[in-house]
Amino acid sequence: MCGIVGVISKNNCVPILIDGLKKLEYRGYDSAGLAIQNDQGSDLQRARSVGRVVELEQAAAGLEAQMGIAHTRWATHGVPSERNAHPHISDSDGISVSVVHNGIIENHEDIRRQLMVDGYAFQSDTDTEVIAHLTHKNLRKGLPLLKAVQATVAALEGAFAIAVISNRAKRTLIASKKGAPLLVGHGQGEFFIASDASALVAYTKKITYLQEGDLVQLNADQALFLNAQGAEVQREIIESQLSADAVELGPYDHYMQKEIFEQPGAIAATLEMVSNASAVKPELFGAGAAEVLPHVQQVLILACGTSYHAASVARYWLESIAALPTTVEIASEYRYRKSVSLPNTLVITISQSGETADTLAALEHAKSLGMHNALSICNVPESALIRASNLKFLTRAGPEIGVASTKAFTTQLAALFTFTMVMAKLRGQMNAVEEKTLIAQLRHLPSAMQNILALEPQIKAMAQRFADKRHALFLGRGVHFPIAQEGALKLKEISYIHAEAYAAGELKHGPLALVDADMPVVSIAPKDSLIEKLKSNLQEVRARGGELYIFADRDTRIEETDGVHVLNLVDHAGHLSPILHVLPLQLLSYHVALVKGTDVDKPRNLAKSVTVE
Ligand code: G6P
Repeated sequence: MCGIVGVISKNNCVPILIDGLKKLEYRGYDSAGLAIQNDQGSDLQRARSVGRVVELEQAAAGLEAQMGIAHTRWATHGVPSERNAHPHISDSDGISVSVVHNGIIENHEDIRRQLMVDGYAFQSDTDTEVIAHLTHKNLRKGLPLLKAVQATVAALEGAFAIAVISNRAKRTLIASKKGAPLLVGHGQGEFFIASDASALVAYTKKITYLQEGDLVQLNADQALFLNAQGAEVQREIIESQLSADAVELGPYDHYMQKEIFEQPGAIAATLEMVSNASAVKPELFGAGAAEVLPHVQQVLILACGTSYHAASVARYWLESIAALPTTVEIASEYRYRKSVSLPNTLVITISQSGETADTLAALEHAKSLGMHNALSICNVPESALIRASNLKFLTRAGPEIGVASTKAFTTQLAALFTFTMVMAKLRGQMNAVEEKTLIAQLRHLPSAMQNILALEPQIKAMAQRFADKRHALFLGRGVHFPIAQEGALKLKEISYIHAEAYAAGELKHGPLALVDADMPVVSIAPKDSLIEKLKSNLQEVRARGGELYIFADRDTRIEETDGVHVLNLVDHAGHLSPILHVLPLQLLSYHVALVKGTDVDKPRNLAKSVTVE
């Protein structure tokens, strides 16, 4: 969702701005733009375009300056159009101000009304434009740019990250953040800003993450950080662990494909500390975990999207293996719901990005209800969620670029299973022999995943049959029901086929009415205690002419017949089965999307990092 890049340099900044925006494309956007100002202090120049960054690149051909700000916009207020694309400019009386913004200004209507009374004319439908005009108004009063932006920020309500340049302050770029991510990159005689480090690693690995309410003034040779109270502060420079290679596509056609096939490696990296040990320890979840976890009597897991499905799998594991009462909530529901909190609850947030606005707000809500012990399972080390949690587990999936989450999901599951083992041990639910067996199963996971990924040709053939379908049903039971939900989500996200998941036992309570030859039914069939019941459900589908696509463990003895397509998985993974069974569903949706010719990595209307509620 909206990406910001800014550069102040001795050289031409335009290629860096464009390259940075390309690296942020994965966040999701529908238009792009940049504004630059040269050292001579002449007027700001701007280029904007609807569509992809390559189109902006063409529109910006020939532009050259040492300082600029750029943006990919994911429409919230106003349709995707050039007029609504950022940067927005306020230009009158010889003063021009240009602004890019990520987030939502909740009080923009009030500010807009006042600015119109003051004589400002609005060119766009965005909430952002008020920031440009308000800063202009503050400059007109004679304030220097830093003070003018400070006064603007003080008037804004909502969550945002912004960057501002003006012809009134040569070689000065101001940025501020409150509730949306923004970082500063330190170069050699140059500075950068960006929404995330992937935009900058090709130029610098020295990064400062802005804190809530921070404002930074960048000149070519100096960065001045002010905190929310306006006091000058020192902010730590860290060395980003992100490698430039990790965000390159390499030999793959799409990031989603790359990320699906990276999963065995990502799981191995995530579980390194577990697989190489003979026992699991609370310390895997942070320095304070040994103190906190023995007192935990229930767990509340908060997440959105795919991360919510990981949470839903964990509920089955935590209750059945660790006998630990577990509640799972969609973060956007929990944060606004009146709920009852119990003492000794551990709040777990799960998030690939660690920046999802609803998950962050849900955690704050839980804390406000007195639940102060928070474990974050997250893929981004310096994210807001990690900073807001006293316990943490970093999944080591590497950057995930495809909007449809794959390797983040399976590494979250690996982390959650490890957590389940730790809790089971603390609660006397797992003996040493069981612990060793489970660690051995975790160790085997990467090679079991490889075996499933090798089934890609068969799955690709299956995918052809979905191309003309408008709906699909996904069935699963028990711990595989959330996997069915994840399979349905993947299919709808990237192939735009309407897909719903049902617990197979619910079939007769409604969805069976939809089943006919045009409704493919995808089912997960692990060899577990519910397999015979599932087989009966599948018979019910077949009896109504529904075409079945079954991903089965090898000895479930489900026969391939007319209208029943079966793909047998090689390994049994016991409790870890959901981690294996999701792989064919990821591959199925990827290949269906390819057949349909959709934009796999950047599906329409969706964003990778949802930083507004
Ligand atoms: C967006 C992404 C999903 C992701 C969800 C939650 O919708 O497109 O892939 O699952 O946000 O994101 P998080 O970063 O919190 O896991």
